[in-house]
Amino acid sequence: MSQPADLEVVRDSYDRVADNYVEMVATTGLGDVRTQPWLRAAMDVFADSVAGLGPVLDVGCGPGTVTAYLAERGLDVSGVDLSPRMIEHARRLHPQCTFDVASATELELAAESWGGLMGWWSLFNLPRDILAEVLARFAAALVPGGLLIIATHVGDGDLQRTEAYGGVPVRWTTHRWRPEQLVALVERTGLRLTAELRLPADDQVGPGVVLVARRNG
Ligand SMILES: C[S@@+](CC[C@H](N)C(=O)[O-])C[C@H]1O[C@@H](n2cnc3c(N)ncnc32)[C@H](O)[C@@H]1O
Repeated sequence: MSQPADLEVVRDSYDRVADNYVEMVATTGLGDVRTQPWLRAAMDVFADSVAGLGPVLDVGCGPGTVTAYLAERGLDVSGVDLSPRMIEHARRLHPQCTFDVASATELELAAESWGGLMGWWSLFNLPRDILAEVLARFAAALVPGGLLIIATHVGDGDLQRTEAYGGVPVRWTTHRWRPEQLVALVERTGLRLTAELRLPADDQVGPGVVLVARRNG
């Protein structure tokens, strides 16, 4: 599998913002689906739909907020993230869950072994061709009937970020997607679109989309 040329720069950037990110979740509720009814609804349907199908992996779990929410709902869920600092926070905040440091592009995912796979606001740093490879691997790793859920930023083109989460210097590219382009990418893996939730920009975050897709049973 190809690796992004900027993977280590992106890892280092998320290590540097991790403390502020955790602070943001705690003080504003951003990043916590419990405080965002439409995102929580999407996550609740996902959780109900994958229950009993097999384990769930939260890829790019950050400090594990959503991983822990799904564990509370009874799922067998674990998280992986590129950033060791994010994973330190996840382990400290949610010791009941299992977390590991890994890139979405390095995962060894056995065929037909996962009930659910997530890329919850965590795959937008991947170059478009590499995201296609990652999604193909995700599709092959789902059990028949298993679900993929993705949330990501909507727009045209790429944004070069030089600071984030309270002015911390970072270097990463946000690859924004038009929903129909992302749907086409997901469907090229053989998964079938189940739901699409479009989120207009508000005063805190830009427009986004949540996609759910199923592997045929
Ligand atoms: C905006 S945060 C979202 C974190 C979490 N999913 C949430 O909703 O709170 C983006 C996360 O994606 C992670 N990430 C970025 N590129 C990644 C990659 N190639 N593999 C795994 N995680 C990655 C970052 O380290 C960061 O924790």
